[in-house]
Amino acid sequence: NTSLWKHFAILINFSCSAGCSVTGSKKNVDRPTSWNDSPTTNSMRNAMFSTQAGQREYLIKHRLGKKEKEYVDIKDFRLFTGTWNVNGQSPDSSLEPWLCCNPEPPDVYALGFQELDLSTEAFFYLDSSKEQLWVEAVERSLHPKAKYKRVRTIRLVGMMLVVYVNKVHKNHIKEVAAEQVGTGIMGKMGNKGGVAVRFVFYNTSFCFVNSHLAAHVEDFERRNQDYKDICARMSFHLLDHPPLTIVKHDVVIWVGDLNYRLFVYDAAEVKQLISQNELRKLQDYDQLNIQRQTRRAFTDFIEGEIHFMPTYKYDAKTDRWDSSGKCRVPAWCDRILWRGGNVKQLHYRSHMELKTSDHKPVSSLFSVGVKVVNEARHKKVFEEIVRMMDRMENEFLPSLSLTNREVPCLVGYFHNASFAPSLVGFH
Ligand SMILES: *[C@@H]1O[C@H](CO)[C@@H](O)[C@H](O)[C@H]1NC(C)=O
Ligand SMILES: *[C@@H]1O[C@H](CO)[C@@H](O)[C@H](O)[C@H]1NC(C)=O
Repeated sequence: NTSLWKHFAILINFSCSAGCSVTGSKKNVDRPTSWNDSPTTNSMRNAMFSTQAGQREYLIKHRLGKKEKEYVDIKDFRLFTGTWNVNGQSPDSSLEPWLCCNPEPPDVYALGFQELDLSTEAFFYLDSSKEQLWVEAVERSLHPKAKYKRVRTIRLVGMMLVVYVNKVHKNHIKEVAAEQVGTGIMGKMGNKGGVAVRFVFYNTSFCFVNSHLAAHVEDFERRNQDYKDICARMSFHLLDHPPLTIVKHDVVIWVGDLNYRLFVYDAAEVKQLISQNELRKLQDYDQLNIQRQTRRAFTDFIEGEIHFMPTYKYDAKTDRWDSSGKCRVPAWCDRILWRGGNVKQLHYRSHMELKTSDHKPVSSLFSVGVKVVNEARHKKVFEEIVRMMDRMENEFLPSLSLTNREVPCLVGYFHNASFAPSLVGFH
């Protein structure tokens, strides 16, 4: 059984680790000459035991990971994600056309806002009167067929992300953390950047990011850089965990006013194509699509096909394209992308009914296959692994303490399974 021998090799590896460095060759053995009666023996033994315990834990985890299929069920949950640049406005109508557009209630809501508050107070003092107004408006419009618990809210100036879970799952949301990264003025201020919430839902880890990237048609490279900075600088600090970055999560969903425009600078031409429903054609000029194709940003992310009109820019309170002097070229600024396995997009749409802002809100409903550990089967597999390891240690380690002294570090040879059985002769 080769896999057994592989473990054996790892086990031996740690039995040597305090006394000698193992590189698979006798020549590299680095062992104190008086290993047994050295004054440091006790501390070395302790070090060895703690390494053994750590290695043992690591091995068990590793084995458990490999046998995941035996105790993990995949269950589908529905995640509703949304993004809306509200242009500093206050809520002035029900949000139900956006948040409540499916017959069945989602299990999780993750909603990103941008330009929630354009006041100088929000910029300089992190204080916003709008936050509460919008959270209340959201809570009035969540799906009536379920009760929701707020998991976390995080806001950086005008970017806010709020996450809810259907109360029936509230005990299955763990390790919640939120972080923010400013990439605005001087590369640090919170007028642009991202906020994120991460958690473990049942046994799958999720990270939701809401970002507002650099503005202006021609500044797509700055948007790429903002994206990279958010990825590089966003880091979650949880007890008993090394810092976690965005990509370390099983599922990442990225929403926001990403601000990518079209490489067509003539508003009349764009509007003409939209009125002819030539959305596909326009999307060939979409900056985000081009950045992704040329692997400059959001490379590992997936985006669903867009069947809705550009969500920017309208005259507030209307469905009319921007009629101001600037006459902005319409664009799909507001986007939702994801990465991770077992994620299926059910809907990707905009919500024209909401006229509060110069942007339209966008939503995506996902069906996500989430890992759910069956505790009884998990326990059984765990016990099997522990028993197997005990057996290996009992059978082989006593003889190794001998080989350890007399034939130091045979580890290199243990990788050679055909040689290994003859070791049993050392008993
Ligand atoms: C799986 O998730 C549950 C919470 O839903 C948790 O109590 C349990 O410890 C997790 N199991 C593993 C093996 O991570
Ligand atoms: C494995 O052991 C055999 C002798 O049993 C030897 O001929 C062979 O070269 C070894 N292979 C390696 C990779 O050390």
